Amino acid sequence: MIAVSTEAPVVIAPMRRRHLRGVVQIEQQTNHRPWSHGLFAGELRMPSSRFYVVALSGSVVVGFGGVMLTTAEAHVTNVAVDPAHHRQGIGTRLMAVLMRGCIERDIDDVTLEVRVSNRGAQELYRGFGFAPGGIRPNYYADIGEDALIMWAHDLRSASYGQRLDALITGLGDELRTDGC
Ligand SMILES: CC(C)(COP(=O)(O)OP(=O)(O)OC[C@H]1O[C@@H](n2cnc3c(N)ncnc32)[C@H](O)[C@@H]1OP(=O)(O)O)[C@@H](O)C(=O)NCCC(=O)NCCS
Repeated sequence: MIAVSTEAPVVIAPMRRRHLRGVVQIEQQTNHRPWSHGLFAGELRMPSSRFYVVALSGSVVVGFGGVMLTTAEAHVTNVAVDPAHHRQGIGTRLMAVLMRGCIERDIDDVTLEVRVSNRGAQELYRGFGFAPGGIRPNYYADIGEDALIMWAHDLRSASYGQRLDALITGLGDELRTDGC
């Protein structure tokens, strides 16, 4: 018998207020210091300097991510996927759309902080060309953990474009987007 997936394909779309309930549910499961509904809503009120996306399976939010933009660089503020859907390429889809969004906004350099023990996220970021750039000691003071600072450079170069293309091709399925 052929197994048929009942789950809708994942689509990456701009984050809207209507998504925030699902976003906060995932945030609470994945972040030791979860952002509140109000904090996310505040981010959405700053579209000129923020770019937030959600991963939707049908109308269900299964992941989200965002960047804060300045004229010179961008900062990945968060990327998270519903634990029930880890290792299905959703984090890769979110990051691909975020990095593409940075390129479209003429950003060359992107940075982020990640817990030093969060090897899974570091692997995801490494695939997108992020390399360690330093340590912020005790950045996560509530859990007594350092942050690894990572940077990706030259996003607008041909080689970075090829890297993104290869990651998207590697998904084995098209990168579906709706409005971003
Ligand atoms: C990090 C996170 C967003 C990854 O999402 P995901 O949808 O599972 O990621 P993908 O399926 O696209 O994985 C892409 C690649 O990243 C790496 N990776 C992801 N999770 C990993 C893990 N737990 N261990 C090792 N490598 C991992 C692998 O190289 C993986 O490719 P592979 O599955 O072909 O081996 C997800 O684990 C998550 O939500 N974690 C909690 C929140 C978090 O830590 N966010 C980062 C904050 S800085």
